[in-house]
Amino acid sequence: MSSTVTPLLTADHLQARIAELAVEIRRDAPDAELHFIGVLKGSVFFLSDLVRALPGACTLDFIAVSSYAGGTTSSGEVRMLKDVDRGLQDRDVIVVEDIVDTGLTLAYLQGILRARGPRSLRTACLLSKPSRRKIDVQVDYVGFTIEDHFVVGYGLDFDEHYRHLPYIGVLTS
Ligand code: IMP
Ligand code: MG
Repeated sequence: MSSTVTPLLTADHLQARIAELAVEIRRDAPDAELHFIGVLKGSVFFLSDLVRALPGACTLDFIAVSSYAGGTTSSGEVRMLKDVDRGLQDRDVIVVEDIVDTGLTLAYLQGILRARGPRSLRTACLLSKPSRRKIDVQVDYVGFTIEDHFVVGYGLDFDEHYRHLPYIGVLTS
C-alpha cells in the first residue's frame, strides 16, 4: 500500500489560526477558569497548542470514544472508552475535537457531558467538513472548514498512522 499525503494546512497556518481561536475563546469568557476536555487521541496537539496560546487560567481533562460513524458504516454508534476524571458541575467546559465529520460523535459527547450539569458547555473543533454532516450539532469555534477530503496529521490518523505530522494533509492512495 503506498499512500501520499498532500499538504493542505501548514504548521504555520495552523498555529496562526489556533492563536486567533484562543483569543476568541477568552474574549467570550474573560474571567472564567475554563475546563478543557480533549477528545483522545486526535485532539492532543490542537488542545496543547490552544491552551498554551490562551491567556488566563484553565484546567484539562480527557475523554476517549470509539466512533464507527466515519467509516463505511453510518450507524452513529459511539462507545465510551475513557471517561473524564472530574465532575463538571459549576465548570465552564470547552470540548476540544480534531474534526467534525457527520457530527454523530460530537452530538453523543455533548449529550453525556451536558447531563453532568456544567455551568456552560462549548465546543472547539480544529476542522469541519460541513458537507458530510448527518446531524445538526453546535460547534462554537471552528479552525478551518474543509472540503470532503480524508485528512491526516497534527493528531488526525489513518489506522493510527500520520498523527505525528506537524501539518495537515490530504491522504490519497
Ligand atoms: P463523526 O462522528 O463522523 O463527526 O466523526 C468524527 C471522528 O471521525 C473524528 O473525531 C475523527 O476521529 C474521525 N474522522 C472524520 N473525518 C476524518 C478525516 O478526514 N481524517 C481522520 N479522521 C477523521
Ligand atoms: Mg476524533
